[in-house]
Amino acid sequence: MIIGIPKEVKNHEYRMGATPSYVNSLVSAGHQVLVQTMAGQSIGFSDDLFIAAGAKIVQTAKEVYEAEMIIKVKEPQESEYPLLKKGQILFCYLHLAPDPIQTKQLVDSKVVAIAYETVTDAHGRLPLLIPMSEIAGRIAIQVGATSLQLNNGGKGVLLGGVPGVLPAKVTVIGGGIVGTESARMALGLGADVTIIDRDLSRLRMLDSLFGPRLKTLYSSPSNIEKSLIESDLVVGSVLIPGKTAPKLVTHEMIKKMSPGSVFVDVAIDQGGCSETSKPTSHAHPTYVVDGVIHYCVTNMPGACARTSTEALTNATANYALMIANKGWINALRDHPGLREGLNVCDGKVTNEFVAHDLGYEYVPAEVMLK
Ligand SMILES: NC(=O)c1ccc[n+]([C@@H]2O[C@H](COP(=O)([O-])OP(=O)(O)OC[C@H]3O[C@@H](n4cnc5c(N)ncnc54)[C@H](O)[C@@H]3O)[C@@H](O)[C@H]2O)c1
Repeated sequence: MIIGIPKEVKNHEYRMGATPSYVNSLVSAGHQVLVQTMAGQSIGFSDDLFIAAGAKIVQTAKEVYEAEMIIKVKEPQESEYPLLKKGQILFCYLHLAPDPIQTKQLVDSKVVAIAYETVTDAHGRLPLLIPMSEIAGRIAIQVGATSLQLNNGGKGVLLGGVPGVLPAKVTVIGGGIVGTESARMALGLGADVTIIDRDLSRLRMLDSLFGPRLKTLYSSPSNIEKSLIESDLVVGSVLIPGKTAPKLVTHEMIKKMSPGSVFVDVAIDQGGCSETSKPTSHAHPTYVVDGVIHYCVTNMPGACARTSTEALTNATANYALMIANKGWINALRDHPGLREGLNVCDGKVTNEFVAHDLGYEYVPAEVMLK
């Protein structure tokens, strides 16, 4: 199979879809890999490293998109839409439920779009979202801590406090992968951390993982409001896979937070979990609503692109190899978890939540495999 690795074009996105060793495993299996020049330059993966791995370097995105399968990180951007071809396999993050424009483009272009974020493993977990969630969860506390600084418009509170001064209060809404890593970082810095989830078994697991240093709270509108009002930093990290994020934080709740508090909405890639959230980029990551600093960057791991590329490709490489070796139909037939990744195929929406949220007819992936 001919496989293309384009240079990412999303704002300040320096990750890439494959490392040299990932490319080498595809080449060793008999595939041809086209890498766009300079795609990995800013994270230390030079064209020479890809050439040594067996790739062919091409100059333009147009040449990369001649490939049968495109492996990348973020969803195609506007400049890439015209390059998509009928029957082409697109393997990357898509986050379609809150994105009607992109969904229409994928439907119209009749690509085979397999989204990293809805691929599942044998335990129902999301193995291709987990590494980026681990990173975003950790970054959330770093950016939250710096946004709390007075010189950045925050209320001038140090997360961990100092002897004689109480630490900052941090609330994390959603105790999955992002939430766990945010809690870990915030606790590590000495903050007073509460984590909220609607899944009691998850809260029990977090309780035994972190012990009494972590406070756990069942998710209800009144618990969320009470915890938010008392908090200096709030992290939004809820997810219902494939669906638009539920708006658990209302504008009224934000109004009741103290000025200079910070809200990091990691769930923004699924539309955000606050009524006040809107997507931002690394170029302009924050904005203020009623005195509360909002950080809503949709590609947070891009800030730590080298670590993120390695973590992401550790998880994606074997799936890509499977698709390349077997072809997408057989790969999806043989691997039910990979099948869950199929979001759009030959003009049909094959993810139930995306179809429901955006008003498309839902066609199960199994139908497309017949
Ligand atoms: N902005 C970024 O750059 C970035 C990067 C990585 C992940 N994300 C996003 O972060 C979000 C979280 O990802 P994750 O991997 O941690 O997901 P996850 O599935 O591991 O965790 C989500 C948690 O939310 C909880 N939840 C669902 N509904 C809830 C409710 N009503 N109240 C409280 N908790 C609720 C679930 O029980 C679960 O524990 C996703 O939207 C993901 O796409 C964003």
